[in-house]
Amino acid sequence: MAYSGSTAPNDLSAFWMPFTANRQFKSKPRMLVAAEGMHYTTADGRQVLDGTAGLWCCNAGHKRSKISEAVKAQVDELDYAPAFQMGHPKAFELASKVRDMAPKGMEHVFFTNSGSESVETALKLAIAYHKARGDAGRTRLIGRERGYHGVNFGGISVGGIVNNRKHFGTLLTGVDHLPHTHLPEQNAFTRGEPEHGAYLADELEDIVALHGAETIAAVIVEPVAGSTGVLIPPKGYLQKLREITKKHGILLIFDEVITGFGRLGAPFAADYFGVTPDLITTAKGLTNGVIPMGAVLTSSEVHDAFMNGPENMIELFHGYTYSGSPIAAACGIATLDTYREEGLFERAAELSSYWQEGLHALKDLPHVIDIRNLGLIGAVELESIPGKPTARAFQAFLDAYEKGVLIRTTGDIIAMSPPLIIEKSHIDQLFGTLADVLKSLD
Ligand SMILES: Cc1ncc(COP(=O)(O)O)c(C=O)c1O
Repeated sequence: MAYSGSTAPNDLSAFWMPFTANRQFKSKPRMLVAAEGMHYTTADGRQVLDGTAGLWCCNAGHKRSKISEAVKAQVDELDYAPAFQMGHPKAFELASKVRDMAPKGMEHVFFTNSGSESVETALKLAIAYHKARGDAGRTRLIGRERGYHGVNFGGISVGGIVNNRKHFGTLLTGVDHLPHTHLPEQNAFTRGEPEHGAYLADELEDIVALHGAETIAAVIVEPVAGSTGVLIPPKGYLQKLREITKKHGILLIFDEVITGFGRLGAPFAADYFGVTPDLITTAKGLTNGVIPMGAVLTSSEVHDAFMNGPENMIELFHGYTYSGSPIAAACGIATLDTYREEGLFERAAELSSYWQEGLHALKDLPHVIDIRNLGLIGAVELESIPGKPTARAFQAFLDAYEKGVLIRTTGDIIAMSPPLIIEKSHIDQLFGTLADVLKSLD
């Protein structure tokens, strides 16, 4: 039948929503229809404070005119250009800006369209890098329990969130996992980096002994694990991981999809912790969440290993139709300029102690069993209702939304990661509302 252009009004059935309880949502939808600054507007006309920067991505807040104008202008100037064997200026300009912002030693930028694609790209680069150097036996990939590296097959294979893996078959072979770093008995209610747990990085030595360093291509970790419920690395842990990977010729990949672009009050977590990996995966804050885009940053050593052979040959058989697309690139340029001009990373650093104190003031409220924070990231872990895991935190999310504040939950953990333009009064509102919600929960 010819498409008539008509759809039933208010029909929610066609859209299969991602990572959503579809039936529950559609029975009582939560619709956002506009956004500006720190706030969303709901379909019923309420203002909701954005405590999560969308999904950890709108670091400069919403409806930022510089970014909107750049996107609009780009649509009119050059809407799309082929990504393979052709170029356009904005992709080069954005790559240079990312490199200039990146930790020293990260010299090259490969564009993708999401965090998941950045992860797949980094994993493939790691294996291909070793092959390009004549070390083709290094194909094994090491992730970490509770890690989140997006939803594609490589990412869920190295990832360690059970529900994201167990429905999807056998996944990649040749993958092993480090233990996670969550030690609540020793570290609960730590402000910032926990004291205990650096020794968990030594488990990499056991994995190396088991498989042989000569079979291992890369280790991938989130410097701060976000989606699993905010796990801050123990003091010295990342430094140890760097030492051990270097000693064994293993590449270290930091998945900075959440921590990149100012979340910790420094451009990247690599800067914050003073640990430089070989590859960094990014997305989200790269374009303020406005246009989908990701990027993998690499050292010259990784990049240069591919730059041999005949010059008329493609060096890397990998890329996406939209890698570095003009509109995304224009959006990224305006986003990075906004961060710099408004000093938003410095602002995040300045606000982080106020954020920390406000968050930890929730300590004695009902059901709270741990609080964790770093930069402008915070998490409150609740005791689960027996036999009903996730229910208590999800109720908190619903109640907070009704009271005008957007938070996120994973399991029974409430996670918050506001735009870096947040004011102290917003922080007070966010934690004040959360306190009210926690007091009234079953
Ligand atoms: C650390 C990390 N890696 C990868 C991803 C996947 O990003 P995307 O949803 O853009 O594919 C996320 C998303 O939250 C993430 O937090």
